[in-house]
Amino acid sequence: MKTDSLWYKNAIFYEVHLRSFCDSNGDGKGDLPGLTSKLDYLQELGVDCLWLLPMFPSPLKDDGYDIADYHHIHPDYGTVEDFERLVSEAHARGMRVIADLVLNHTSDLHPWFVESRKSKDSPYRDYYVWSDSDRKYKEARIIFLDTESSNWTLDPATNQYYWHRFYSSQPDLNYDNPVVADTMIDVLRFWMDKGIDGFRADAVPYLFEREGTNCENLPETHDYLKRVRRVLNEEYPEAILLGEANQWPWDLRPYFGGDEADPTVPGNEFHMAFHFPVMPRIFKALALGDATDVIDIMHKTPAIPHNSQWCVFLRNHDELTLEMVTPEDRELMWKLYAPHPRMPLNLGIRRRLAPLLDNDRRKIELANSILFTLPGAPIIYYGDEIGMGDNIFLFDRNGVRTPMQWTAEPGAGFSTAEPWASLIDDAEYGYQKINVAAQQNDPASLFNTMKHFVSVRKATPVLGWGACDFMPLTNKAVLAYLRHTEREAVLAVHNLTGRPQTVQFDLSEFAGRVPVDLLGRRDSLPEISTVPYGINLEPFDYLWLKVS
Ligand code: NOJ
Repeated sequence: MKTDSLWYKNAIFYEVHLRSFCDSNGDGKGDLPGLTSKLDYLQELGVDCLWLLPMFPSPLKDDGYDIADYHHIHPDYGTVEDFERLVSEAHARGMRVIADLVLNHTSDLHPWFVESRKSKDSPYRDYYVWSDSDRKYKEARIIFLDTESSNWTLDPATNQYYWHRFYSSQPDLNYDNPVVADTMIDVLRFWMDKGIDGFRADAVPYLFEREGTNCENLPETHDYLKRVRRVLNEEYPEAILLGEANQWPWDLRPYFGGDEADPTVPGNEFHMAFHFPVMPRIFKALALGDATDVIDIMHKTPAIPHNSQWCVFLRNHDELTLEMVTPEDRELMWKLYAPHPRMPLNLGIRRRLAPLLDNDRRKIELANSILFTLPGAPIIYYGDEIGMGDNIFLFDRNGVRTPMQWTAEPGAGFSTAEPWASLIDDAEYGYQKINVAAQQNDPASLFNTMKHFVSVRKATPVLGWGACDFMPLTNKAVLAYLRHTEREAVLAVHNLTGRPQTVQFDLSEFAGRVPVDLLGRRDSLPEISTVPYGINLEPFDYLWLKVS
């Protein structure tokens, strides 16, 4: 691995659901050796860093986000040795690996909770948050609205309630207990010592609870996360922490640490954080053909420290969350994107990228073009690079977690056994039609377009490092912004509509230059002068123009 402590600034991330990626031992479940056998594929795509969903022993009531043992690998996935092999094989190919760090809660089958619930005097009682009343912290919202009616569950053994922000099978750890706070840092060390490159930290806003607050983003939580960062900086200097905080931009900003008034002060909390609010606005912009909301939320996004980076995404393993939109926009998004009663889930939509965008190749490319040019490092959700479909009838969020479609053979090249979740096999998205093998061989495939995006993005560091200035909105159907450093400038232009559009930009600061179309979609472009520069765009057209 090349050493570079800021490697994440211009990296391409890829989210892997192990259970659905590749089954090496014919039990119908993806596993670590299976993933290892597919590293060449990920390298071909150009991935820099893999994010693995939780792979630890778990009753899988929340697909592994309910951990019963932080120090082993779930037997379905292999062994710790398999994990170490995966990491070293990834490193040999120049790829990094981050794992999920679930700090907020454990499974109710974790031995700590099993002990904790036995009696009020248990030495583990204080590992969790117990109360005689379920009226405490009543300002905290319920996240899994479709299944949970309270954040408290009464435990008959001791007739007290325990606190949980997610399923009742996921009791929250008590971070006011210093033993818990220390122990979880040791968990981090344990996996770092297996050679990984950092963590995606799950559900970080909820670590502490305080009466009279909504129990999110508390100062105590930030203090603890800064402590986690200090440990990484001191003991594992190239490792990163990518925070999952589904919050508004102004509440996300503190997760980077540093000094909000001065972005030159280095961040001292998370290296990266997902930009949750921009994601649904990209979908809204595409549906309405109106760039306004994307620009607005980016303008409301505070500057982050120079050593920090956003992680931008279109889809992931959860529902497309609509938590960070207004109630009116949530209704609108459900109307636009969730017409079937099985599609809405909690405050979101359980669908994959391609079906959300009507399997319209032009829209899928356009959305990805926005993803690859907005500030932040892009993350690809497994299967979206080939335009996989979903199955809204599966339990919970499993419909967006179906087996990876490698080939057109029975089992889709995923497994020789009955897969743990049924393969997509309808006429439009079935593995017989949508699969890696077919797309690798087709120069015009979505896979090859994505590969092209990845390679151009990586060769254009201004997209990772540069500032972003939105062009004045003279035609709201066109989302355009200039990514720039002192030496380099790229103008990204997107036609959000299915109609041709014309735009004019003031590019006079680049007068005399001839724009270069980085993606090679235009043969030649006129020279820039001091008069407004006109660009004609085809329906759902996009351009990355190097203007410096
Ligand atoms: C966020 C994860 O992405 C989601 O899948 C999980 O259910 C919750 N956190 C609880 O861990």
